[in-house]
Amino acid sequence: MKRYINIAVVFLLMVYACNKSENNVNNQNNNTPPALTEYQIKHPVRFPEMTIPDDNKPYKERIALGRMLYYDPILSNDGRSCSSCHLQSMGFTITSSAGSMPVLPHVNLGWNTNYMWNGSKKGTLEDVMIFETEEFFATDINKINNNEKYVQLFRQCYGIDKITHKYIGYALAQFTRTLISDNTKYDRYMNGTDVYTYNEEMGRRIFFSEKGDCFHCHVTLLTTDNDFHNNGLDSIYTADKDKGLYNVTKSVNDLGKFKTPNLRNVALRKTFMHDGRFTSLEEVIDFYNSKVKKSVSVDPVMFKPGKENGLQLTAIEKSQLIAFLKTLTDSTFISAVEFSKP
Ligand code: HEC
Ligand code: HEC
Repeated sequence: MKRYINIAVVFLLMVYACNKSENNVNNQNNNTPPALTEYQIKHPVRFPEMTIPDDNKPYKERIALGRMLYYDPILSNDGRSCSSCHLQSMGFTITSSAGSMPVLPHVNLGWNTNYMWNGSKKGTLEDVMIFETEEFFATDINKINNNEKYVQLFRQCYGIDKITHKYIGYALAQFTRTLISDNTKYDRYMNGTDVYTYNEEMGRRIFFSEKGDCFHCHVTLLTTDNDFHNNGLDSIYTADKDKGLYNVTKSVNDLGKFKTPNLRNVALRKTFMHDGRFTSLEEVIDFYNSKVKKSVSVDPVMFKPGKENGLQLTAIEKSQLIAFLKTLTDSTFISAVEFSKP
């Protein structure tokens, strides 16, 4: 009898050992790391589905790690952190000097697949975040691996013993995927929980009708189609900085095409377009109204029949369009504690 108990104990120990090593394997694949708290990424009503890579499922601990890294100058070699240029109070951008490339905001990036003004990066948020740490910041991997706090946190979150750029990018993607804006006055208007003033409503109608035609590229709710267009800023392309997507594809059809920027929190910005050439929303609207230039690659929407001489908006209509753009400011987003410096 005793012998059978011994065998049973040995058997149980073996089963236990097998399970343990299986856990470790899972841990390496970071599918089901033990002791992590599952997290459901918010999915605002009527937003498209967000695709999240299977090998970087959201967990509270990973998001917290990404947030810590985002605000930590340890990632760079010159004292900067991501938050030095991507400031929450400005919608995760900062005011660049007029005439220089504005910092792109981090808002609803989880729905993006194209990154940078000229589309030089494509793929998942993980892909672009790996680029940010590995190439843009050239993060010193030894410095991170000598930091006991991060060694522990990466072990806990990803089951790895040596931190690599890949996992720094993965953690940054976890945090930035949670930077969701869905509480502008425009969202509330769409959900029927807020009302527009007369001018905001008139502006909304211009934006979403053939009159303004803005919605072709700045599409509903996300305010971007995640695609590239030439909106007619230039007709001659001499400077590389104005060639946009052409610099990536070398196709003449892509000259002057840039990523449609997200317009959430646009009223907080001080410079506009890929080269910061405009310094007020009034200038932006004046451009769309009467200064759009023709070129081989200009978007057909800009010169469709009836629009050959611009939008022909009155002064009042222009101010109404601006009143609408101001309803895209999300004060909840720019002050949310869970997005702030930990
Ligand atoms: C010195 C200022 C600066 C710092 C610091 C900075 N960025 Fe940026 N970021 C920019 C600028 C400028 C752009 C636009 C670049 C372009 O389009 O070529 C940008 C664009 C991006 C984009 C693309 C957004 C989009 O909509 O396509 C991502 C993602 C990004 N940054 C992530 C990061 C991360 C992560 C860090 C920290 C590791 C960081 N940035 C640090 C200035 C900065
Ligand atoms: C054909 C597509 C298209 C249409 C139509 C369009 N836009 Fe844009 N919009 C873009 C692109 C692309 C950019 C960035 C261009 C660049 O930087 O070279 C942009 C930039 C902007 C910016 C500057 C954002 C920033 O962060 O710098 C604002 C504001 C804006 N558009 C508002 C509007 C309004 C209002 C309308 C309608 C009157 C409109 N757009 C129509 C594609 C379009």
